[in-house]
Amino acid sequence: MQPFVTPRALATNEIPALIEDFRRAAANAKEAGFDGVEIHAANGYLIDQFLRDGTNKRDDAYGGSVENRARLLREVTEAILSVWEPGQVGVRISPTNPFNDIADSSPQSTFETVVEQLNQYCLGYLHVVEDRTDGFDYQKLRHIFNGAYMANGGYERDSAIDAIESEQADFIAFGKLFIANPDLPERLRLNAGFNPAREESFYAGGAEGYDDYPSLDTAKENTN
Ligand SMILES: Cc1cc2nc3c(=O)[nH]c(=O)nc-3n(C[C@H](O)[C@H](O)[C@H](O)COP(=O)(O)O)c2cc1C
Repeated sequence: MQPFVTPRALATNEIPALIEDFRRAAANAKEAGFDGVEIHAANGYLIDQFLRDGTNKRDDAYGGSVENRARLLREVTEAILSVWEPGQVGVRISPTNPFNDIADSSPQSTFETVVEQLNQYCLGYLHVVEDRTDGFDYQKLRHIFNGAYMANGGYERDSAIDAIESEQADFIAFGKLFIANPDLPERLRLNAGFNPAREESFYAGGAEGYDDYPSLDTAKENTN
């Protein structure tokens, strides 16, 4: 069993090597033939721990003001732009998602500033994990951002079409539906219905629940 390790703030002098890790990962993705990369600044993972003030208690250049808290995201973005064209790079944020015990005291102004800061890079897209029940003004972020806007969070086929047609988003990302439907684009195109997701196999640690949902073809074969 792994010993429990108490989380600690990174020392300022550890940050350059961390940024280099992001650059190398982006370079590896390019070498492997990816079309682009998404910088994960959401869901309480490392970059998000710098962005939100519930976790960022630093007193160096990476803490305090939102500009400082967004410094790691800017530096990671700049490192990745040494490898990729800006149009091939997106950033994922989740302004109000409390996953991994994270929070911010003023998410609206924090993330408006974060998005303003990102505009200098003319990135391809902003990917936002939305909770559209919490009063956060996601459209404001969409209008501040100078690239395409990808929305995520609880979308199904009709709500996704509505969001695109009413210009609330340029793209929709699907999570649970993709886990449960290996041929999701085809199902959306044909309006063929979805396999329901089995929540008990989420985060269960094995392949079960990730590679065993039927596609339309296998479902048809099984009924023949
Ligand atoms: C089993 C499972 C694993 C997930 N793993 C991640 C992850 O590693 N990183 C991440 O940012 N989001 C992860 N998510 C969140 C999804 O990317 C997505 O934001 C969320 O499910 C909301 O979209 P949806 O309503 O379309 O599922 C996960 C979701 C599920 C259900």
